Amino acid sequence: MIPKEIIDNIFETALIEEVVGDFVSLKKRGANLIGVCPFHNEKTPSFTVSPAKGIYKCFGCGKGGNSVNFIMEHEQYNYPQALRFLAEKYNIEIPEIELSSEQIELANQKESLFIVNNYANEFFQKKIESTEGISIAKRYLKEREISEEFIKKFQIGYSPKEWDTLTKNALNKGYKKEYLEKSGLSIFKEKKYFDRFRERIIFPIHSLSGRILGFGGRSLSNEKKIAKYINSPESDIYQKSKILYGLYFGKSEIIKNDCCYIVEGYTDVIAMHRANIKNVVSSSGTALSLEQIRLINRYTKNINILYDGDEAGLKAAFRGIDLILSEGLNVKIILFPEGEDPDSFSKKNGSEGLKKLVNNEAKDFLTFKTQLLKKQCKNDPSKKVILIKEIVNSISIIPDQIKRAVYIKECSKLLEVSESILIKEISNIKSRNKSIRFNNDDKDEKQTNLKNKKPLKYNSEYQERNIIRFLICYGDKYLQFDEDNSDFEKNDSNILVSKFIIDEIFDEVIFENPLYSEILNNYAKIVDNNEIPSSKKFTQHNNSNISQLATDLLSSKYELSENWKKHGIYTNTEETLLKSAVENAVYSLKIKKIEVEINQAQIEMQSQDEKEQTNTLIKMNKLLMLKKLISKKLGRTILR
Ligand code: CTP
Ligand code: MN
Repeated sequence: MIPKEIIDNIFETALIEEVVGDFVSLKKRGANLIGVCPFHNEKTPSFTVSPAKGIYKCFGCGKGGNSVNFIMEHEQYNYPQALRFLAEKYNIEIPEIELSSEQIELANQKESLFIVNNYANEFFQKKIESTEGISIAKRYLKEREISEEFIKKFQIGYSPKEWDTLTKNALNKGYKKEYLEKSGLSIFKEKKYFDRFRERIIFPIHSLSGRILGFGGRSLSNEKKIAKYINSPESDIYQKSKILYGLYFGKSEIIKNDCCYIVEGYTDVIAMHRANIKNVVSSSGTALSLEQIRLINRYTKNINILYDGDEAGLKAAFRGIDLILSEGLNVKIILFPEGEDPDSFSKKNGSEGLKKLVNNEAKDFLTFKTQLLKKQCKNDPSKKVILIKEIVNSISIIPDQIKRAVYIKECSKLLEVSESILIKEISNIKSRNKSIRFNNDDKDEKQTNLKNKKPLKYNSEYQERNIIRFLICYGDKYLQFDEDNSDFEKNDSNILVSKFIIDEIFDEVIFENPLYSEILNNYAKIVDNNEIPSSKKFTQHNNSNISQLATDLLSSKYELSENWKKHGIYTNTEETLLKSAVENAVYSLKIKKIEVEINQAQIEMQSQDEKEQTNTLIKMNKLLMLKKLISKKLGRTILR
């Protein structure tokens, strides 16, 4: 259990824009910040952060919440884990009890994997400082020009020669066999066990927030018999198609430079950093995946791929280009001399040489493909046809129409083919692909729409929710009443929205929705104590239903605008019309409640005897009178 004061402190300290800003590139828009949503795939930003309200909300996928919710969602943490994460970020101390073996067991699967990985990471880093580590690993790294600075920065480690050091130590410390095995750090065979990584340089792979997802281990020898690299196996936390090595170290530079370099290997990332190019990630030997591109898309739309000029590298580059284009991103290619990668190139030409190449050799995909294929087909016309089709295919993938048009023009010049022929070919390709692609998109969209739509459960659901919305969004604002109104003393002419609402309805109306009812009770207490309510109390409520609702309401102005228009009040002027809007909400609720009651009475009447029916009729009449009265107050007639 984390003490309440500490939780409050974390909430106060963890500014939403800072917490989200670590993961999403945000731009200012009015009072809010806006960026590309990290929770769903989108091309135009609809992810909004409100520093004033301390919340985020995506108008695309509907996700929203406070700082802690963001970390929970983004890092897949539970509530206490997210609090701990933020506490660590802001150096807020949580009184910690050392983990007992029971607690280790209790922690959930993913968390356990992170815990074991964290232990192993520290173990490997310790071992690189051992006698064996210094004489073997450090010597090797020195040869590869990886200095102490980069060993520290990338937390490079060493796994000793011995067969079972890590596993033995971890078991002794109480780490469970299950997680050692699932993380892939240890291999258990009957009664024996041994370490996966032995006599290797260890590159830990960090999550966006710096937790250890897995490891890559480089053999120290270049002997063909031994696998050059061994990696952690796929697990709940390590899925190589979703991971980019170096992103943790480079994300802020990617945002700053609005550009991301993709290289092939671990050592290439380090070589780039050495040349002071830090906006770099590596797909680590796997073919670049859609998920990886989307990950980059959170930070920038400009990707430069740096690949070996050999056949395998070219093939990878071609595949990468089309994938990147299909996601609507811009792609350039920097090709290295055959057989070279950023690491080996910088060893030969120095960091300066690497920098020059990177800065001067980037070609946009069209020039790159054209030059390359032209070289291959020389003047053979049949090969030229294949070349044109290949390039046109890439252009057809670009989602943006204007961008496509620009490339068609360029392509027509480069290849000496008329634009109209290119356009025709592209529309052929597009119609061929359309049916397949659109089917999938449609399905996704429909599903999210369905999910976001909440069925109306209660008759007065909308009116109750609206009241709660005013309490949460405007509860701390003052309403101005006419000063000549003799009911009010001069200094009483201002009244808090929350007080006005509670005074008007608390004794009169019973809320049907239990969640709204709970919030209403909360406000009644606040008003009773003469306090000024704060929406933060609700967005940061430990009942997640309440914090979620508060977030939704704070960011749902747009959602409700249709209803507002219906009642003749426009959202954009809502704040200036606050008084009438609040009154409107209060009276609408009361009227709705009466309607519900009349409706119930009508149903009851059907099974009543004559005497009872008369009584009910009298009651209904009273209700109708009351309704008329309130409707008049409202300044409009809602009588049927
Ligand atoms: N890789 C791998 N398993 C292998 C070979 C390669 O996982 N058996 C991955 C590694 O992430 C490696 C990347 O693919 O960094 C690129 O491979 P390669 O170019 O062969 O290695 P380099 O990164 O150049 O490694 P080094 O410079 O140490 O030779
Ligand atoms: Mn290399």
